[in-house]
Amino acid sequence: MEKSQPAIKPDITRITELVARYQRQEWPLIPLLQKVQEEFGYIPPEAIEPIAAAFRLFPSEVQGVITFYEQLYTTPRGRKIVRVCRGTACHVRGGKTILKLVKQHLNLEEGQTSPDMEYTLETVACIGVCALAPNIVVGKETHGNMNPKKVARLFESGKDGE
Ligand code: FES
Repeated sequence: MEKSQPAIKPDITRITELVARYQRQEWPLIPLLQKVQEEFGYIPPEAIEPIAAAFRLFPSEVQGVITFYEQLYTTPRGRKIVRVCRGTACHVRGGKTILKLVKQHLNLEEGQTSPDMEYTLETVACIGVCALAPNIVVGKETHGNMNPKKVARLFESGKDGE
């Protein structure tokens, strides 16, 4: 199952506890940001200020670190992350159509999360299994040799491997 969780309302007390705990570590900022994201499913804007204050940084510097690391997010994400490959091998074998169909099935554009927090749709450059192109990943599971029927089956409720 994908680690990302539906958005949890930020609990500032919990954020303060986490800041205090991680502040004592030698290289605390990234692990703290990861921990906040693990608990809330993303890094809530409310967390930036107390984290910056604890490490004597400007909020913009903390924001800069978050922006630098692709795995850190400042907006809530779905429980299942759907990644459609846009790499060359997938592209020449129909990846564009697969992406279009996934968008239709999920009713999402790239970067969007469904209102029920079930799915976030992303595209990736290459997921490293080009021989099975076109590919998509749902959560931690890779689905290769995708075609329109497989896309439809995959997103019928409960069949997406999660
Ligand atoms: S291009 Fe899609 S897996 Fe490599």
